[in-house]
Amino acid sequence: MSILVTGGAGYIGSHTVLELLEKGEKVVVFDNLVNSCEESLNRVQKLTGKSLKFYEADMLDRTAMDKIFDENPDITAVIHFAGLKAVGESVAKPIEYYYNNICGTLVLIEAMKAHNCKNIIFSSSATVYGIPETPCITELFPKGQCSNPYGWTKSMIEQILTDIQTSDPEWNVVLLRYFNPIGAHKSGEIGEDPQGIPNNLVPYIAQVAVGRREHLNIYGNDYNTPDGTGVRDYIHVVDLALGHIKSLDKLNEMNGGVKTYNLGTGKGYSVLDVLHAYEKACGKELPYVIAPRRPGDIDGFYSDPSLAKEELGWQAQYDIDEMCRDSWNWQSKNPHGYKG
Ligand code: UD1
Repeated sequence: MSILVTGGAGYIGSHTVLELLEKGEKVVVFDNLVNSCEESLNRVQKLTGKSLKFYEADMLDRTAMDKIFDENPDITAVIHFAGLKAVGESVAKPIEYYYNNICGTLVLIEAMKAHNCKNIIFSSSATVYGIPETPCITELFPKGQCSNPYGWTKSMIEQILTDIQTSDPEWNVVLLRYFNPIGAHKSGEIGEDPQGIPNNLVPYIAQVAVGRREHLNIYGNDYNTPDGTGVRDYIHVVDLALGHIKSLDKLNEMNGGVKTYNLGTGKGYSVLDVLHAYEKACGKELPYVIAPRRPGDIDGFYSDPSLAKEELGWQAQYDIDEMCRDSWNWQSKNPHGYKG
C-alpha cells in the first residue's frame, strides 16, 4: 500500500512525508517544484534511512497523473498539499490561483477516480472561517467570506470534495483546517524555505534573526487584543504532520463520508509574544517597527482543537518556545534555505 503525497517537497509536505516514512508507509510524492526543492526530499530520505518515489509532475497534467497511478497501483490514499499559497500574490493573480489550485485538484480527482482511489486528506486552512464571530473557533462555525483568492480556493476545494463524496458515497474525505504552522524538524535539516520576501510572520522573523532582513514590520498595534498586535494559533509543523498520520488512520476506519478537523494548539499568541519567544531562541534582540495594518488581517483567533483530540486521538505537543527553537535551528543551519 502506498500513500501519494501531492506537493510533498514543500514545507508541510516534506515534514509529513518524513513522518509517513518513520511510520513505515510506502510513499510516492509528486511536486512541480515551483515553490519547493527536491533537496528537501533528499534530506528526508537521509534522516529516515528510507526511500520514496519522486515524480516531478504538475497536477494539471492528466497524463502525468495517470502515469503515477498506473505505475503505482498500490496507492490507496492521497494527501493533497499541492497548490499556490501566497495570499498577496493571489490577490494580484486570481486567474493563476483559481486555475492552478481548483483545476489542478479536479484533474487529480479525475485521475484518482479513474484508478479507483477514493481516499483523500486535503490541506485546508482556518482561513475558510473568514472573520469568526468569536475568537475560539470550532468546526461547527459556519464557513465565511475569505479575504483573498487563495483562501477561496481552499474553501471551494472543500466544497468540491464534499460534493464528490455526496455523488459517490464510497469516497472518504478528511478536510484539515490548519491554523498557523511554524517551526521545523528538530534535526534542522528540513524547514520552511520561502522564495523572495516572506509573507508570513515567523519566516520573516527568522530572516531578521539570521541577518537577511533589517527589521520586522509589525502590521498594526491597535487591534483589539491584549497588546494590540494580531493574535494567532501557531502550531509546530511536526505536530501538524502527525495530525495527517492520525487522519490516515481515520480514513482507514471511515466507511464513506467527510470529516473536518481543526489542527491547532488552542492557544493564541500575539505578534509581540512570538517575536519575544524568537528572541529567546536566537539569544538576541530583534529590531521591529510598527507599520500600518495589512489589508484583510483580523484581530485574533485560535482553534478549539477538541474534536481532533476526541476523534483522531491527536493533540499538539510543542509549545511556542519549542516552535521558535526549532525554527531558529533550521534557519541558522540553513541561512539561505536549501540553497545554502
Ligand atoms: C495567513 C493567511 C492564511 C494562511 C497562512 C499560512 C489570510 C488572511 N491569512 O495567515 O490563510 O493559511 O497565512 O501560514 O489569508 N505579521 C506581521 N508582520 C509580518 C507578517 C505578519 O506583523 O511581516 C502579523 C500579521 O499581521 C498577523 C500575524 O503576524 O497578525 C500572522 O500573520 P501570518 O504569518 O501572515 O499569518 P496569517 O495572516 O494569520
